[in-house]
Amino acid sequence: MLVLCLSAAEDFDWTKNNHGSFYYGTFPAGFSWGAGGSAYQTEGAWDKDGKGLSIWDVFSHKKGKIQLNDTGDSSCEGYYKIKDDISLMKDLRLNHYRFSIAWPRIIPTGVKSDHVNEKGIQYYDELIDHLLESNITPIVTLYHWDLPQVLQEKYGGWQNISMVNYFNDFANLCFEKFGDRVKHWITFNNPWSVAVEGYETGEHAPGMRLRGNGAYRAAHHIIKAHAKVWHTYDTQWREKQKGLVGISLSGDWGEPVDISNQKDIEAAERYVQFYLGWFATPIFHGDYPQVMKDFVGRKSVQQGLGTSRLPTFSPQEKSYIKGTCDFLGIGHFTTRYITHRNDPPSRSSNSYFTDRDLAELVDPRWPDPGSEWLYSVPWGFRRLLNFVKTQYGNPNIYVTENGVSEKMMCTELCDEWRIQYYKDYINEMLKAIRDGVNVKGYTAWSLLDKFEWDEGYSERFGLYYVDFRNKNKPRYPKASVQFYKRVISSNGFPN
Ligand code: NOJ
Repeated sequence: MLVLCLSAAEDFDWTKNNHGSFYYGTFPAGFSWGAGGSAYQTEGAWDKDGKGLSIWDVFSHKKGKIQLNDTGDSSCEGYYKIKDDISLMKDLRLNHYRFSIAWPRIIPTGVKSDHVNEKGIQYYDELIDHLLESNITPIVTLYHWDLPQVLQEKYGGWQNISMVNYFNDFANLCFEKFGDRVKHWITFNNPWSVAVEGYETGEHAPGMRLRGNGAYRAAHHIIKAHAKVWHTYDTQWREKQKGLVGISLSGDWGEPVDISNQKDIEAAERYVQFYLGWFATPIFHGDYPQVMKDFVGRKSVQQGLGTSRLPTFSPQEKSYIKGTCDFLGIGHFTTRYITHRNDPPSRSSNSYFTDRDLAELVDPRWPDPGSEWLYSVPWGFRRLLNFVKTQYGNPNIYVTENGVSEKMMCTELCDEWRIQYYKDYINEMLKAIRDGVNVKGYTAWSLLDKFEWDEGYSERFGLYYVDFRNKNKPRYPKASVQFYKRVISSNGFPN
């Protein structure tokens, strides 16, 4: 039984429960408010209408990989609910909706010359058209983790450089089919997770544990694929379609445990450089962060290897990759305290993590209602946004993900802690804009409860509750819907 909660948001007063200094004010005119989701997490219809298998279809069907052996087979059944979901977006008065295109839904084997699935194209056509009819701008991600399984089996997925061309063909097809209407493209979503969790820890599909350099190699190919797709758009489509191509990076903030200790300060810097900087530095400056080159190189030598486990870019590659970003997407959820720690390298060690020489800590007072990794630390958001501004030449930023989860057993729609989280984080973003950071839009993550990767359905991020036990997957508004609606209609927090 769901417990309805009508009063929490209406009574919610943003002059109360304010941590630190709450900033009253509104966002710049034209600021874009949105919510998001991704194909595998919401669509369901995993084997319908000619869709090919993705690595997540295969991974989630293996026993023991996902909490309670959940799968995304039907998830929210978003594939069948375009109109229903758009009416939720309209009710929220969203300016944009962020979703992803499932590569194997439109190219079942991943290889364009094999076969293009018209039914898949039709589905995304319909979604885009209905969004536009409702005045909602589509922000479209090309890769939110669902690589065609055939490419994994034949070539080893992102371990193989051939992915660059296959991905470029897929992106090119999307520009051709949808680019007349889609003007905001995101090449990759959170490549850090793809590289580290997909190819090093194996917690995510394809579940590989390539200790040593698997994550670095995957990331290297992803960065090249991103650059190639940006150039394809720039040279072949931009003039006609007048759109933008960016990437969405996840960046949690790292704060030194002891701000008077130089080693902690440097360790916190390394935490962010090995995370956001790993991808952002090549894309904005042409090469990996110096600190990554130094640390991975030194550890590789200590391990007795002849060369660094971190691959290198040639001078031509550096200039090809540099500047391939019309806007930067930021997915931000939480913060860690960081302290220096000497991690001796060893062949069996989990190398990405030990390469960094640091330990991550949390403050026991930080609220953590849902995911074990997700603590509410709003001030970290403002620091991260300012870091992006100073490190990468103040690019235009879209916050592509920000939000908080709750555990499955929660049957209440009174998500007051989510209201508090959104209020505090959105307020810190407003302060960052006052600091001069170019944030152009914000995407609440997520519109609906959905399949949460290795956590299955045990964690709920949605503004809307989805009853997964019911075949029809009905959606119910949580209290945070009312709250977010008020923020959108006031364009912030007027006094
Ligand atoms: C980042 C991922 O991009 C998204 O798919 C996921 O739902 C959130 N993290 C929360 O775990």
